[in-house]
Amino acid sequence: EKGTYEHYMLKEINDQPAAMRKIIQEYQDENGELSIDTEIMDQINDADRVYIIAAGTSYHAGLIGKEYFEKWAGIPTEVHVASEFVYNTPLLSKRPLFVFISQSGETADSRAVLVEVKRLGHKTLTVTNVPGSTLSREADQTLILHAGPEIAVASTKAYTAQIAVLAILAQVAARALGRETGINLTEELAKVTTAITTVIDDAETIEGIVHEYLETTRNAFFIGRAMDHYVGLEGALKLKEISYIQAEGFAGGELKHGTIALIEEGTPVFALATQEKVNLNIRGNAQEVQARGANVCTIAMEGLESENDAYVIPNVHSMLTPLVSVVVYQFISYYAALHRGNDVDKPRNLAKSVTVE
Ligand code: F6R
Repeated sequence: EKGTYEHYMLKEINDQPAAMRKIIQEYQDENGELSIDTEIMDQINDADRVYIIAAGTSYHAGLIGKEYFEKWAGIPTEVHVASEFVYNTPLLSKRPLFVFISQSGETADSRAVLVEVKRLGHKTLTVTNVPGSTLSREADQTLILHAGPEIAVASTKAYTAQIAVLAILAQVAARALGRETGINLTEELAKVTTAITTVIDDAETIEGIVHEYLETTRNAFFIGRAMDHYVGLEGALKLKEISYIQAEGFAGGELKHGTIALIEEGTPVFALATQEKVNLNIRGNAQEVQARGANVCTIAMEGLESENDAYVIPNVHSMLTPLVSVVVYQFISYYAALHRGNDVDKPRNLAKSVTVE
């Protein structure tokens, strides 16, 4: 039920702090330690490489998940778009584990990969919001997202739930492998939950950003580096699907290799700056487009902000910033669609789950 909210999407954005708390609770054992079923941990321990398979927003969550598997657990990880993987399968490692990320658990493109890799005898794990869904029933193991039903076509709380569950999985794997990650994930996810609440409380400020940058534009760009690049891809997808503004997400350093030709006087460019290591680089990229007339809207993290930033998210662990920064993009997309009079929850040409290949 959407209750007092005008749209399911708005409700689902607002559900995110509660979803985070629920996930932490569901994945804690009686001693308060994060824990994952032993069968799933055995699968991970046996694997020499993880192949994440997904589509759309779930693919974007997979890109963040790869960072966790590689940086925390030290497990080589590839992320693949499901529809490509089936017909253009890459060379596989000796002991692959296939991880399917799917909110609905019904995406036909992902299922086609599942059927094929099962035929080849490989291990499979589905990460889904829907217990009993096709991908859950057909995979060897399942991890549930615990985000609660997602009704709006544009995925919001499932994306943040996917990232949180992948972080927990990678963290537990790191512990099992005796690797020191230097992060207390339970504590850091609790901080993330508070930070998401802060962003939600700032919804009106973010609506102001839409007035200033997106009211009449036909296109927009999203730039970032490292994990901020992946969040930009998600920001662009969200904006496209409900506001119908043409949007592209780019690695900040890649713009100058062609795309910068599209920057005109007033072109909106959203720049995300949450990663200290590349803060100067993304600032430089923002200046490059600003010098060519772009209307740059920088969203930074507390501690890395500079004078003209449009919005500053609270400081959280550098590996977890996507969980907070994406909420800003969710609101930007929501208000852009709302201001254009679009059907926010049911955008044209789209269905909630894509059950055809
Ligand atoms: C975008 C969106 C889609 C889905 C994609 C995969 O907001 O919702 O891109 O993420 O169709 O769907 P699932 O996760 O159900 O496999």
